[in-house]
Amino acid sequence: MASKMYAICTLPGDGIGPEIMAEGKKVLAAIGARHDVEFRCQDQLIGGAAIDATTARGQKPTALPEATLQAAQAADAVLLSAVGGPKWTNTEAGAARPEQGLLAIRKGLGLYLNLRPVRMYDALRAASPLKPELLEGVDLLIVRELTGGLYFGKHEREWGVEGAGVGGTRGEHACDTMDYSEYEVERVVRWAFEAAARRRGRLCSVDKANVLETSRMWREVAHRIGEEFPTVEACDMYVDNASMQLVANPGQFDVIVTENTFGDILSDEASMLTGSLGMLASASLGSGTALYEPSHGSAPDIAGKGIANPLAQILSVELMLRYSFQMDEAANELAAAVQRTLDEGWRTVDIADDSTPADHVLGTAAMGDKVVEFLG
Ligand code: IPM
Ligand code: MG
Repeated sequence: MASKMYAICTLPGDGIGPEIMAEGKKVLAAIGARHDVEFRCQDQLIGGAAIDATTARGQKPTALPEATLQAAQAADAVLLSAVGGPKWTNTEAGAARPEQGLLAIRKGLGLYLNLRPVRMYDALRAASPLKPELLEGVDLLIVRELTGGLYFGKHEREWGVEGAGVGGTRGEHACDTMDYSEYEVERVVRWAFEAAARRRGRLCSVDKANVLETSRMWREVAHRIGEEFPTVEACDMYVDNASMQLVANPGQFDVIVTENTFGDILSDEASMLTGSLGMLASASLGSGTALYEPSHGSAPDIAGKGIANPLAQILSVELMLRYSFQMDEAANELAAAVQRTLDEGWRTVDIADDSTPADHVLGTAAMGDKVVEFLG
């Protein structure tokens, strides 16, 4: 018996989710064995898989069954893979959509803070579409607000509203609201400043203050909190400029803190610095159980083929060890094992290039095995 036990709520979800989750669990088991900890994983339903299961049981289709939320709340940490797929693409009002499961669990667990570290691996420089010299010294952390803004404002659709449509009074009218309280901004900005103070001491607060009222308030809050952190060099940047700077001069960034939607967009963009969206892990923290997941989606086009890159899922486990269990030594071991896997030339197909020997292109499970092999 291990001397410690942690309960992990595992949510494989859809598409490549179950395949990469198997690798996350494999790595957790190996880490547990090395550090005398039992990670007791229990699968729950989320996303399209949950919609299908609730439909099959004759229940109201839902992407986040109550049992899943309860299990997540009761667990020590949640490990999620991905949700969504063409099977559930339905724009009809009121239809259940896999993504609702993700948003609902973020809200249900109070996960207002989403961390997306963007780390360069020398071995993968060739996989990035950017010139290698631009990638020198890139190591940034995107801090994304996760339970407010456009994602959680009012979403409305109406028929026949006066003045709607092009030049007419009849037609559909849709409206999404971007809503923030000062408090919601304050807690993420403060966390980001604290992170910057522990890192390289630079923070960039990204907004659209030249247009949006929420952004003007965001900027005021950022300035006020910045006064508490005299050692952090802070700047503001409009989101359009930030998007350009991320590819023009990514090395300038240390911590980026931003609103939910901006963070969603910028983090996909930033992932390409590393060569593949398949490398980017994320941690969502807040008032309840923390949740760890890859930043990428369910990749339905390659689901079931055993070729998906499991590294973002495995690096999500690394973040879990750090943030939920303070197992820094184990986290460092895991980070080093991933690094060694790449340094020794092992690749999944998304990060392989012309110079990768065919026998070094691995499937999902074999890539997970390599990481485990290099743990000790
Ligand atoms: C992400 C994803 C989600 C988001 C989708 C799947 C709802 O893109 O985690 O970045 O937009 O937050
Ligand atoms: Mg996204």
